Amino acid sequence: MNLRLIVLLAAVALGAAAQAQEAGEPKRGLWVARANCASCHAVERGERSSPNPLSPPFAFVANIPGMTAIALNHLMQSSHDTMPLIVLPPEEQWHLVAYVLSLRDR
Ligand code: HEC
Repeated sequence: MNLRLIVLLAAVALGAAAQAQEAGEPKRGLWVARANCASCHAVERGERSSPNPLSPPFAFVANIPGMTAIALNHLMQSSHDTMPLIVLPPEEQWHLVAYVLSLRDR
């Protein structure tokens, strides 16, 4: 499946039909990640250890077998004991998800 399709499917799954026309842009997602996630997670491509050792580097998360935009959205929106629930505007969420998935090894 290509990324655009995955993002589209995720949009439908979340009932965010209005967002479906716009797939996330990885470049903008990197800025969202730097602003919201980098205090704990390694967010850069090739960065293998996180500032907070409990937080998986995004390159690791992206390469979990079967990881999709839907799964990623779900992981981010479910609460963890150790990770705060961060609610982003939908547009930023799409950029962020697109960015994380762009970190997959090909
Ligand atoms: C205050 C520190 C902190 C911040 C900020 C933070 N996280 Fe996390 N995150 C964690 C920790 C700790 C874990 C491991 C939690 C666990 O396994 O219960 C985690 C786990 C995750 C996971 C994997 C969950 C799983 O179950 O495998 C994802 C995906 C994730 N974070 C995404 C994000 C994104 C995206 C952001 C920015 C919007 C973010 N996190 C911001 C601390 C943080």
